[in-house]
Amino acid sequence: MPMPILTFKPSGTAITVAEGDNILAAMLAHGEKVNHKCDGKSTCGECHIFLLEGRKGVSRLSPDENARLDCMVGVGSKSRLACQCTVLGTEDITVEVLSFV
Ligand code: FES
Repeated sequence: MPMPILTFKPSGTAITVAEGDNILAAMLAHGEKVNHKCDGKSTCGECHIFLLEGRKGVSRLSPDENARLDCMVGVGSKSRLACQCTVLGTEDITVEVLSFV
């Protein structure tokens, strides 16, 4: 497949990503406003996003990530921590950015 497209909502920004890219890093590199107090250690929960499309296009939920999400408010079946999501390169991805700086 060609390079997957990662789209951010609600900004509508769409970028090309590559296998192995981290979604939090991609968000920050493209001006999406997102808190990330723990800098990707899966402990602050501030990089919460909804994975709207492309569930098979990102790495699976890890036990650490699952445990962190379990103690957060407003979590749903599409919830992920952006810092724990790695692009697999198999399909396009759309995420909803939830935190506001
Ligand atoms: S940056 Fe803290 S959980 Fe993702």
